[in-house]
Amino acid sequence: MIWLIGCGGMLGRELAGVFKNSGTAFCGTDREVDITNPGALGAFAEKLCAKTQVAWVVNCAAYTAVDKAEDDPETCRRLNVDGPGNIAALCAEVGAGFVHISTDYVFDGKGAIPYTEEDPPYPTGVYGITKRDGETAALHNNSRSYVIRSAWLYGQYGKNFVTTMLSLMNTRDSIKVVNDQQGSPTWARDLAGVIRAVTESREDTCPFGIYHYTDAGVITWYDFAREIYRQGRALGLVKKDCLVEPCTSAEYPSKAKRPAYSVLDKGKITKTLGITVPRWDESLREYLGTIAP
Ligand SMILES: NC(=O)c1ccc[n+]([C@@H]2O[C@H](COP(=O)([O-])OP(=O)(O)OC[C@H]3O[C@@H](n4cnc5c(N)ncnc54)[C@H](OP(=O)(O)O)[C@@H]3O)[C@@H](O)[C@H]2O)c1
Repeated sequence: MIWLIGCGGMLGRELAGVFKNSGTAFCGTDREVDITNPGALGAFAEKLCAKTQVAWVVNCAAYTAVDKAEDDPETCRRLNVDGPGNIAALCAEVGAGFVHISTDYVFDGKGAIPYTEEDPPYPTGVYGITKRDGETAALHNNSRSYVIRSAWLYGQYGKNFVTTMLSLMNTRDSIKVVNDQQGSPTWARDLAGVIRAVTESREDTCPFGIYHYTDAGVITWYDFAREIYRQGRALGLVKKDCLVEPCTSAEYPSKAKRPAYSVLDKGKITKTLGITVPRWDESLREYLGTIAP
């Protein structure tokens, strides 16, 4: 049995779907079992463990409002550091493996070659700092922990770049999109499949620790928007013409600084799991196909 925490979020809902479709036994919780409250986590675990053996706990719950975090560092820390720390400690107690999700924001984005798991994290904002500290807590409190870092997630559930772009393209004549931040758009369903594969792997061939996963290819947000427009128009998801223009981050100041270079090296996870990573534009096509009229 897998306990999926954060099952109401963008990734959590996608992962719940992947578990359902593959017949994987799981139990999902979200806000009703507060990860910042060890008592609430413990009480739920006791009930669950009385019925079945919990082999894995997967944590998709987090404080993900990157800009808001700058004004609310305490809440962000409780969720992103204490939360995974509490879950990992509980996993150690009940003998479960732990899969915790983290982010490219643990790096400052000043690099020019893909970040590996060996590169020292150097976050700059509250969100990134708390996610880094959450990784440390997850790995420290349970020796059987995986941390999977990803980036630029989109999908069917919740607000994300693709849903925002489709909505803007249907209501505006032109939009400007930043062209000076590089990364790899990643369909949440692809990441969900990898998380499931990790829970199915053998511990001797997939050692615990940190792994990077995104879809393949490196582009800017502007490139991504253009392809969303191109594919969206062909599929009838964008119903009118819209001019997509490039701009700089300086034209769109935000509270939290965005990493300029968010590219993660996926060599470790592809070798370990023997997987082929889909290209970002192919996954976008598959995703848009699932929501096209
Ligand atoms: N989104 C991205 O682009 C991205 C990129 C890289 C990595 N990640 C990481 O991927 C993971 C999943 O991200 P996501 O975008 O799917 O997040 P999300 O949509 O914000 O989902 C997080 C879920 O956690 C729930 N939650 C909030 N506080 C909680 C609490 N105290 N106890 C239990 N659950 C609580 C949220 O409920 P409410 O909605 O009610 O708050 C929500 O359902 C996170 O670890 C994130 O850091 C995301």
